[in-house]
Amino acid sequence: MAETQQQPNAAPPDGPTSRRGFLTWLTRAFLGLWGLGAAGVIGAYVKAPERGERIAQRLVRVGLLDDLRIGEGRLVRHGITPFFVVRLDQSRIVALSAVCTHVRCILGFDRERRILVCPCHDGRFDLAGNVISGPPPRALPSYTVSVRAGEVFVQL
Ligand code: FES
Repeated sequence: MAETQQQPNAAPPDGPTSRRGFLTWLTRAFLGLWGLGAAGVIGAYVKAPERGERIAQRLVRVGLLDDLRIGEGRLVRHGITPFFVVRLDQSRIVALSAVCTHVRCILGFDRERRILVCPCHDGRFDLAGNVISGPPPRALPSYTVSVRAGEVFVQL
């Protein structure tokens, strides 16, 4: 009767304690964790911000009302949405996009004539955002202005 003897240094069959089994388990664990991390990153990217977050991000603090003189037009460089804030009189303030609707040059404020002027092709806008002259095809977007506790905010 032939008996098979197991050698003491022979590797045991594949299983959780073998080297191959351990490496397979480690690889799967790594890929699983990597997959969870990737899913989290993609989920965070795809998920729309909450309504409150959106409003908070789009409410821009311009400064103190007392620092904005009547007739002054202040350019606020807010990321890709630069805009002008113009104080018309004691109580009226307007906010208009500072991006020309022709080919997106940044407008300048002409304090004497109280208009916005484009340096690229001489497009001109009144302080309601309407095109006065030049090639711009449409009016400037305007934004809501509010004053809270003496500070001016613009809702983009
Ligand atoms: S870019 Fe403003 S008029 Fe052309």
